[in-house]
Amino acid sequence: MNLLFNTISLCTAALLVTNNIKAQQAENICIDPTIVFSSLGDSKEKIRVDVTKKYILLPVEESSDISRLNIVMNNDIAESLNIRLAVNNIDYYVPLDISKYDGKTISILADNIKENAICRNKIIQSDDFDSSNTEYFRPEYHFSPPYGWMNDPNGMVYMNGQYHLFYQYNPYGSQWENMHWGHAVSNDLINWNDKPVAIAPDGLGAIFSGSCIVDRNNDAGFGKDAIIAFYTSAGSRQTQSIAYSNDNGLTFEKYENNPVLTSSENDFRDPKIIWHKDSEKWIMIIAVGQKMELYSSSNLKDWNFESEFGESHGAHGGVWECPDLIELTVEGTNDKKWVLLCNINPGGPFGGSATQYFIGHFDGKTFINESEPSKTKWMDYGRDHYATVTWNNAPDNRAIAIAWMSNWDYANVVPTKQFRSANSIARDLSLYTKNGDVYLRSLPSEENLALRKGTFKKGSFTVDNKIVDKTLFKKDNASYEINFSVKNINADKLIISLCNSDNESVDMIYDIVNEEISLDRNNSGITDFASTFPSITKMPVNSEGETEFIIFLDKSSIELFAGNEVMTNIIYPQKPYDKINFRTEKGKMRIENLVVYDIKNSKQN
Ligand code: FRU
Repeated sequence: MNLLFNTISLCTAALLVTNNIKAQQAENICIDPTIVFSSLGDSKEKIRVDVTKKYILLPVEESSDISRLNIVMNNDIAESLNIRLAVNNIDYYVPLDISKYDGKTISILADNIKENAICRNKIIQSDDFDSSNTEYFRPEYHFSPPYGWMNDPNGMVYMNGQYHLFYQYNPYGSQWENMHWGHAVSNDLINWNDKPVAIAPDGLGAIFSGSCIVDRNNDAGFGKDAIIAFYTSAGSRQTQSIAYSNDNGLTFEKYENNPVLTSSENDFRDPKIIWHKDSEKWIMIIAVGQKMELYSSSNLKDWNFESEFGESHGAHGGVWECPDLIELTVEGTNDKKWVLLCNINPGGPFGGSATQYFIGHFDGKTFINESEPSKTKWMDYGRDHYATVTWNNAPDNRAIAIAWMSNWDYANVVPTKQFRSANSIARDLSLYTKNGDVYLRSLPSEENLALRKGTFKKGSFTVDNKIVDKTLFKKDNASYEINFSVKNINADKLIISLCNSDNESVDMIYDIVNEEISLDRNNSGITDFASTFPSITKMPVNSEGETEFIIFLDKSSIELFAGNEVMTNIIYPQKPYDKINFRTEKGKMRIENLVVYDIKNSKQN
């Protein structure tokens, strides 16, 4: 018996020793000794962190597979995220804020960690994260996230002299994942002040797109003048949730009884809330598959279905997303019309994502499109104008819109790493009539005028088929506003090129006969990161009389306003375009008042 006991205990001890050795072998202390990996087999790891600093800095390699990280504190999952941890090379680091666990030990349970992945040695704790720009292509005056990924503008609302901009944000990589609402504020739509993340994923899912309102009369009971955010909780299903802020949009509390609206549809998202004066109700317009649904509410928590819109109206090449509903007066009349903005992806006029709109009547219940249903009206004819929505509560009843300047066709692979994507400049919307139908016009918001720095007047001149070459400013960036107008004398086509000394150019062709302007970015700079990127986009133009051109050029975008239309495209020239050329194919055209404005960097901090 004794012998047996002794033998058993000897064996157990041996086993323990072996297990200890194995356990030690499987343990891996990072270059930062407060971070220890223990293998759980099957590429799963427990990462123990004795928290002493504000962040852990996680190394990302964009081509790696995604790992799921569950941060466990006191046996509970405190937060989770998806990240492409570095296997062979580090593209960049991202910070995970662990300050709330200061002095404690947390475990991070991670899957999909390859045996020799370099992240095992490279995770460190730090009190700082350096988000200073490292990208040549970061815009000089368009809003972009300090680091990480951005898509749709969200929750835009004006309050107490501040424009709030929230946005779809991944703080753990520069590709789409882990949707949060990032946040920035501005007094002038140009200079932006970055704020901490406003809304983070939770048990109901990631935080997809939505809108904010100011609850002047405390209809929801969260407090008078609370800013209330409506967003899609994207979990295994898409449901609608709310969060409120009583500190002017800086921090949000999620409503305890979320979600407030559910559906059995797969695609049910991006609620835009507006106040409808005539029916004295709050209205929610929400994208559902390839239609929009309208709901009403008096307390912002209980929503009643009113109607749906969209079947056999407009373009249906893809799913409808990010709606908006705005009332505007038709230029030159007292008539008011409702504009329904409808972002669609894919199915844009030149592939992928784009914004279409409908104009008609809305009585608080039903939206009626007053145009021919089969007709599609595009808000912007470029490849990179998506998820466009307007600011709620904007001063003077203005309808101010911005768009995400990218396209789902290639957004995740554009040639930047530290951050991805920027927004368009702010644009004011108005309605005008043409041939008996009403259309939406977007023009640069007047706030953009404050960006002008040096003025360079290039005069008026006649062009024929020999190139007229005008030098832009010589500087190491290429942010300009270029204005001129064009009058045809007897030509068919005017070719306008923005070019650099590497023979990269954006070519714009004004085709008088076909009444259209095209923009060719095939040779604009780096284009080979996606087969869908090189492209030519075209917009209609009325070629009678004089056509005014306004071009906003930044490090990696061009917005061309001409006549009543606009075209937004991203571009990646490896050197700034420093010349603008004009020529006709045959015949003559007149260029009037060519003015080049140097644009100052906007402030973002
Ligand atoms: C549009 C969109 C929205 C969704 C969000 C997710 O770009 O697909 O419909 O809420 O992006 O990030």
